[in-house]
Amino acid sequence: MAKMKLFIVPSADFATTAGDYVARRMFDFGDAVSFVLGTATGGTMEGIYSTLVGKARRDSDLGLCLRTAHYFGMDEYVGLEPDNPQSYEFFMKKHLLAPLGTPTRNLKLPSEKTVLASPLAEDGRSVYDQMIFDVGGIDLQLAGIGENGHLAFNEPGSMRTSWARRVELAPGTKEANARFFSNSSEVPCEAYTMGIQTILRAKSVVLCASGKKKARAVQRMIEGRPGSDCPASFLLDHGDVTVFLDWDAASDLRSGLYT
Ligand code: GLP
Repeated sequence: MAKMKLFIVPSADFATTAGDYVARRMFDFGDAVSFVLGTATGGTMEGIYSTLVGKARRDSDLGLCLRTAHYFGMDEYVGLEPDNPQSYEFFMKKHLLAPLGTPTRNLKLPSEKTVLASPLAEDGRSVYDQMIFDVGGIDLQLAGIGENGHLAFNEPGSMRTSWARRVELAPGTKEANARFFSNSSEVPCEAYTMGIQTILRAKSVVLCASGKKKARAVQRMIEGRPGSDCPASFLLDHGDVTVFLDWDAASDLRSGLYT
């Protein structure tokens, strides 16, 4: 089993440190003009995207790389239109594409059209997975983690071999994400998600988690074995994963191991 690289930083430095690292890693993949970035959404990513935008304004190479990159979103709610501020498409345009000046055509998200269409191959991959294959795969996949260990919207019970698909959200996930909606009854019950298999095929993964509420899932992910009860733990099977935690998110890790 490959080891994850682990950085534990104070909350105040979290977004800047993680954003700086992501910007540096983007140049590990050769041709910066056709970079493929797998994107995550959620509160944790906001500060990281803001760091990337700030750096891209000061660094023209990074700016060019981010303006010309292909973006593949990890997940999207079922039933929210792109102009709904709670949709992940809206989130990505607001926090990354618009401030960078990246054309919106560079962004793809799993959707009814791309996920539910007949698989193109016998192995069960969806059109969305094939679109990612067609651009040569994801160079760097950004990820968060759910309080229940979900990765994208691969909820506990998801298979390691899963492709992009439509899923039902766990009750705890709806509860955790209700904070973004004016009323908890507005949280969609279903979503489209990238599958674990496609995430594991990314050349590198950077997972970020902050806050005490993530501590248990983070401990399970890092110190357990890969398993469906915590889909993020499948990343233990990937050879190039970097995890950024603030002290709260790291607070359930066994003391002494990481000092
Ligand atoms: C959401 C998203 C995930 C994200 C996670 C953490 O439900 N589907 O892709 O990584 O939960 O979100 P947050 O950073 O808001 O805690």
